[in-house]
Amino acid sequence: MPDPTPCSCGCPNTFDEKLARSDLKRYLKDGPDKSTKALIDAIVGEGIEGATLLDIGGGIGAIQLALLGAGAASAESVDATEAYVQVARDEAARRGFAEQTHGRVGTLELLAPVIDAADVVTLDKVVCCDPDLPGLLVRAAERARRMVGLVYPRETWWNRLASRTIAAWCWVTRDPTRWRIHSTADIDAILRTAGFQRRDIDRSLIWHVALYVKA
Ligand SMILES: C[S@@+](CC[C@H](N)C(=O)[O-])C[C@H]1O[C@@H](n2cnc3c(N)ncnc32)[C@H](O)[C@@H]1O
Repeated sequence: MPDPTPCSCGCPNTFDEKLARSDLKRYLKDGPDKSTKALIDAIVGEGIEGATLLDIGGGIGAIQLALLGAGAASAESVDATEAYVQVARDEAARRGFAEQTHGRVGTLELLAPVIDAADVVTLDKVVCCDPDLPGLLVRAAERARRMVGLVYPRETWWNRLASRTIAAWCWVTRDPTRWRIHSTADIDAILRTAGFQRRDIDRSLIWHVALYVKA
């Protein structure tokens, strides 16, 4: 059963309750995946005692739980997938973070007017969902007082091939979901214009991990 949350990026067709539960199960067994862990470590290394977090497309809440555990004051998430928000809420409550977390269902574009600024804003494997890179990143940057953390697909031939294969399959199955490869140059231009300096944190076969820190 597809998640009914409306989303222009088509995410609700892909991310549903079954996937959210299986992501949580994997996280409880193995912890955050390697790229997420690299981003968390880089953010914590900047000092986050008492900081606030806005986690866009936060999934089951791995970044939120890690930063709260490391001394952050509060974490707000905005995710177009209702099942993720619910699973993240339950897990945060189970760990005693109910009062410090707040999850909203919807896209950043729709919810932007009610989303406050935070010290740290994260987009972990989220820019690849969105056709409107400037729309997403400008709104994210406007809400970031100190840092914007990103995990996004590298511009490699194998990622481009995967992206085209997914697009072809989704075209056949009438599924609006796409896996988009945005260029580092475009990401950089938007965030530098917004006053952030890039730090390259990590690179795997698939993902770039970058932390943008206010200059
Ligand atoms: C690939 S999942 C990543 C989840 C989590 N960050 C992780 O790494 O496990 C992408 C999530 O971002 C959400 N998403 C994509 N574009 C979004 C937007 N513009 N605003 C809010 N959520 C968005 C999707 O609904 C989905 O839940």
